[in-house]
Amino acid sequence: MKDKINLIKENALSSIKSIEKLEDLEQVRVKVLGKKGDLTLILREMGKLSKEERPIIGQYANEVRAEIENRISDKKIELEEKLNEIKIRTEKIDITRSINRFEMGHRHPLNETMEELENLFQRMGFSIIEGPEIETVENNFNKLNSPMNHPSRSTSDTFYIDEDTLLRTHTSPVQIRTMLAQKPPIRMVSAGRTFRYDEVDDTHSPMFHQIEGLVVDKGVTMANLIDTLNVFIKEFFGEDMETRFRPHHFPFTEPSAEVDVSCFNCHGKGCEACNYTGWSMELLGCGMVHPNVLRNCGIDPKIYSGFAFGMGIDRITMIKHGINNIRLLYDNDKRFLQQF
Ligand code: DAH
Repeated sequence: MKDKINLIKENALSSIKSIEKLEDLEQVRVKVLGKKGDLTLILREMGKLSKEERPIIGQYANEVRAEIENRISDKKIELEEKLNEIKIRTEKIDITRSINRFEMGHRHPLNETMEELENLFQRMGFSIIEGPEIETVENNFNKLNSPMNHPSRSTSDTFYIDEDTLLRTHTSPVQIRTMLAQKPPIRMVSAGRTFRYDEVDDTHSPMFHQIEGLVVDKGVTMANLIDTLNVFIKEFFGEDMETRFRPHHFPFTEPSAEVDVSCFNCHGKGCEACNYTGWSMELLGCGMVHPNVLRNCGIDPKIYSGFAFGMGIDRITMIKHGINNIRLLYDNDKRFLQQF
């Protein structure tokens, strides 16, 4: 095991040495020290060792971890200094130039998508509700019927503020808030920021955006859910877009489904982007509101039923504009934003 750790260390140190870009450095950090990193995975195997070996190897692994962390942070400082120098040289501002034009800004592509989605649902008869980004565990998990041992509850997946409070991991708690505050019929959407303890990569960010929808009334059925989402997808992405509902599991809906839509690139014909399947996967999650969730909010499931759905706004924005890196949405670099 020590040999394996040494090998990881040597590989890591030599790749850190030759790195020239900050993103590559971050990649090495995730690959070696991240949640699913080489060193982290090796430490999971510690259980196989004898009682005597365990503390020795454990201490050694910690030393190696600290050394790699130090090298990474030294390298980071070195690269940032270099980058700064280049920036100072190339982004000099000519303060003597006169500007007599007032430059008007415009909405961020993410906000634009969010407003477009809200407007569309509003036209379909939904009202718009806002919910807080700091939520109770009660609304974010308990009342949504999420079992105590659900992995999403773990401190390695969720930002807890204290035992009972967290940064909401999805927009679904706004369903709970609405049902506690209003009697059916309910037809609402709610969009906003959500937070999860994710490593940053091209498609993940610890802060992202979702939109949630909820309908509760007498006699609401799965057919209403499917029809509503079909209308939404054709309105938003184009008449030729098809949907496919795949059975799935969410604690707060039963039955639950994930929805795929025709590939955005080839519109279903099959291309490299969709692995020749014709489908873009997992655009949204949805289902019939679980009777427990209705009961938790004081609504009688024998009288009322409902459907709900939720989807990522960042992903939709990226698909819409052909953006391949989520970081671009958060960097606030004018050269990127000016294109929209
Ligand atoms: N909250 C789910 C998530 O973040 C998405 C979702 C799935 C929302 C099904 C719903 C739903 O309202 O019915 O992954």
